[in-house]
Amino acid sequence: MPEHPLRRGAIVASALATPTGRAPVRGSREPLVLREAGIAWDGGAITYVGPADGLSAPSPEVFEGGLIVPGFVDCHTHLPFVGWRDDEFEARLAGATYRDLHGEGGIYRSARLLAEADDEEVLAFCLPLVREMAEHGTTALELKTGYGLSLEAELRQARLARRLAAEAPQTCTVTLLACHAVPRGLKREEWVRVVCRELIPAVAAEGLADAVDVYVEDIAFSIEDLRAVAEAAAGAGLPVRCHADQLGPSGAAEAAAALGARSADHLNHVSPRGVEALAAASTAAVLLPASSFLLGEGPPPVRAMVDAGAAIALATDFNPGTSAVLSMPEAVAFGCAWYGLTPHEALTAATLNAAWVLGLHERTGSLEVGRDADLVVLDAEAFRRVPYRPGHNPVLATFVRGRSVTRG
Ligand code: NIG
Ligand code: FE
Repeated sequence: MPEHPLRRGAIVASALATPTGRAPVRGSREPLVLREAGIAWDGGAITYVGPADGLSAPSPEVFEGGLIVPGFVDCHTHLPFVGWRDDEFEARLAGATYRDLHGEGGIYRSARLLAEADDEEVLAFCLPLVREMAEHGTTALELKTGYGLSLEAELRQARLARRLAAEAPQTCTVTLLACHAVPRGLKREEWVRVVCRELIPAVAAEGLADAVDVYVEDIAFSIEDLRAVAEAAAGAGLPVRCHADQLGPSGAAEAAAALGARSADHLNHVSPRGVEALAAASTAAVLLPASSFLLGEGPPPVRAMVDAGAAIALATDFNPGTSAVLSMPEAVAFGCAWYGLTPHEALTAATLNAAWVLGLHERTGSLEVGRDADLVVLDAEAFRRVPYRPGHNPVLATFVRGRSVTRG
């Protein structure tokens, strides 16, 4: 997005809610809630947050009945991808499992679709989706590889992700998920060796990724592979993340915590020891309830995680296989109604803690002077209205670094 020289603005609304303080927030901590609130920014950074009558800006935009919150940070998506897989969803409804479809379908199919499309086709598919995410209040998001499945194709997808980031209205980070499925014709350990010895150094040298992810599952990679990739990532100065305990228990959450991973994501089958390990470690628990819902996987022990003091983040897992959901308000609705988060816990999980997962917590995820003016205005008197009305887009306006990305 081209930078605007003067990004000055001010808003008043009936209320404002934001997490505050150091990220990540552990366990449950109430956000700051102000009634009749105002916010102002200049040059893309927040200059004032407080009572509306303390705002010195001349003519603030007024949102009567509106609630200002930090922009949502979608810290787990699988963009860029191309093409949908709704026939697999229908097959699962008829009794097939995700594991059954992994082969002709699944990740391998998305890899084929990506290989068959040229770069412009991929971007033309993805850009309207990231714009739709902005309409739903997402001001920062993760992009991932994982549909390349060869050295060259992973590099291509990472470069495409950087191009998408440059054209998207939001702030985007890129994660290398080369260990997503074992490439055809290679043994698992052969591919892990290529990833560790060649791909991660190449990606780091070209500045193509901000983190590295590993899909630990019986149909994908092992804890031993996670360890090897974590070591290579550390050597390249990149944090490691992990798809952990999604389809079955593997001990991945404990391993991720022991490795000091930035996050362990999914966690549907996490063990009580895994919960304790996450609470004791710096590793955030990223909850992805939309993909659980659409896959038919039961929820993780969310209340035990919060009570144990884990740092909880919430995201969409937007991808063509398990979660075609790009709306953070929808993720919040699932997170509350099904995973049992309180609306305020979900707000923190979807903003400041998610920003921490992406390493963006110094600049976004909460409304404080000096931080990026990344915010959304909701047609809600309190944040609880968001999960209460699933299917309704509550976003009236989205601002990224002070620039409106929803209107005009
Ligand atoms: O987070 N399970 C692994 N990866 C994705 C799904 C990828 C796909 O099916 O294309 C997930 O659910
Ligand atoms: Fe995922």
